[in-house]
Amino acid sequence: MDFEEVFNKERVTRKFTNRRVNEKLIAKIVEKAQQSPSLLNSQPWRAYTLMGEPLEELKKASKENIEAGVKANEDFASMLSLNWDTFPSQNMATMGASQTYFFRNKLNLFTKANNEMFNAPAIVFLTIPKTSPAWSVFDLGIFAQSIMLLAIDNGLSIMPAHSLVSYPDLVRKYARIPEGEMVGMAIGLGYPDKSAEVNDLKYVPDRVPFEKIYKLTK
Ligand SMILES: Cc1cc2nc3c(=O)[nH]c(=O)nc-3n(C[C@H](O)[C@H](O)[C@H](O)COP(=O)(O)O)c2cc1C
Repeated sequence: MDFEEVFNKERVTRKFTNRRVNEKLIAKIVEKAQQSPSLLNSQPWRAYTLMGEPLEELKKASKENIEAGVKANEDFASMLSLNWDTFPSQNMATMGASQTYFFRNKLNLFTKANNEMFNAPAIVFLTIPKTSPAWSVFDLGIFAQSIMLLAIDNGLSIMPAHSLVSYPDLVRKYARIPEGEMVGMAIGLGYPDKSAEVNDLKYVPDRVPFEKIYKLTK
């Protein structure tokens, strides 16, 4: 696919069909993503794909946690400050406002999709060692973006979501991730359910006006 086309297609999908994703394709995508740059070529990332029965078990266990009111406990929460500066806070607030508008008060669809792990037939969990500098979080983000663009180039749809890593101990258990690794983020992969309302809410989130984020000095 033309790069511009891939890049323009990078929109999230909140409900996938049951169609399975070829495991060899996912491995090929992750292997290519290893080309991503990282600080001093440290390559702090690791990727764990869950599909089939173990993924269904994780979905079930996560849902039970949600229903029992177990609080989300992301590994990154311990590392990253949750005190947001006004700039991203305002961007998030604007997004929240548009959600109410575009979702026509159907925010429950959004919540349901998250709670059901977007019905993703495959999820790639991304980790870095628990002992990591902030640079490794940056590197993991680059690695994740490479995976997403390569996935789109290979005809897949993507769903990056922190809600997928709300219960990292469960993820570690089902994806067989060693204790010493932080489960930073996860990306659902699959094929979009075109009939799902949550994918068709006429909701295309805007981006901040370019002048607000860019300055040239010469
Ligand atoms: C780090 C990260 C975490 C995200 N977490 C969630 C999530 O938990 N649930 C969700 O529905 N969307 C999540 N998203 C998707 C964003 O809400 C989405 O990318 C944003 O609203 C812009 O929409 P677009 O990518 O379709 O243009 C996440 C995206 C990123 C990059």
